[in-house]
Amino acid sequence: QSVFRRELVDVQGIPLFWSIAEEWSTVESFEARPDDLLISTYPKSGTTWISEILDLIYNNGDAEKCKRDAIYRRVPFMELIIPGITNGVEQLNNMPSPRLVKTHLPVQLLPSSFWKNDCKMIYVARNAKDVAVSYYYFYQMAKMHPESGSWEEFLNKFMNGKVCFGSWYDHVKGWWEKKKNYRILYLFYEDMKENTKYEIQKLLKFLDKDIPEEIVNKILYHSSFDVMKQNPKANYTTMLKEEMDHSVSPFMRKGISGDWKNLFTVAQYETFEEDYKEKMRGCSLHFRSEL
Ligand code: PPS
Repeated sequence: QSVFRRELVDVQGIPLFWSIAEEWSTVESFEARPDDLLISTYPKSGTTWISEILDLIYNNGDAEKCKRDAIYRRVPFMELIIPGITNGVEQLNNMPSPRLVKTHLPVQLLPSSFWKNDCKMIYVARNAKDVAVSYYYFYQMAKMHPESGSWEEFLNKFMNGKVCFGSWYDHVKGWWEKKKNYRILYLFYEDMKENTKYEIQKLLKFLDKDIPEEIVNKILYHSSFDVMKQNPKANYTTMLKEEMDHSVSPFMRKGISGDWKNLFTVAQYETFEEDYKEKMRGCSLHFRSEL
């Protein structure tokens, strides 16, 4: 039995947690500040990883300072409003600058103050098949989600954009287009896995920060999957069991590329790829989903 009303309600055609829909005007009128750094992702694409890296950068690699609070309070999830449990907008309003702000909103739903203030933004994209797998497990462990149904059922919902935060395809494409005109650094989970240090260097350049090599190495160590998995301030184990049940599936689950191979059947793979080509046709955005 969940304490949550496990229901999604559409906001401008995008399924969101019902309480976000109910509080939409609060989210929409969120006041960004010019020195905010927005971390934008489709769910399960490496949000927590990039958040930890950025908090470490902001604290000059001081891992102890980054243990001051849980990741979801150091980097509040802007639009997440659940009565009696959390309110991202309120958390952020009470937070001193410079703030790190997490969002999963598709680009068209982002509060306009971010564009008006020309805030820097970091988008992390992950290949669709691994996201679908990671999301399937997350739907089951994080109790605010509706029932996932079977893997086959969930995969169909994912392909049709009938999951929380809508279509992965529209999300990655929407943010990709926007980067032509705004200060968006667009990163890929697969690149971060392959050469984390290089991606951290990109982040530093984008943020106009210069950090000595030894501090970069510290950041690398403290943001590695194994270290984050053991860190209660990064692994979400501080949430109540009614919110997230890590015995169903840990938040820090595998942290690899290519786990889709363990879940997709050959038939599912073929259907997925066919549909993928259709949905991504004509887009200059390419993923290394063969991984
Ligand atoms: S959420 O709930 O949308 O904010 O989830 P998000 O953090 O975006 O994604 C969770 C997945 O990211 C993996 N993860 C990592 N991978 C590599 N290195 C590090 N440090 C790391 N931290 C988190 C996490 O394990 C989830 O992926 P899966 O495939 O489920 O393991």
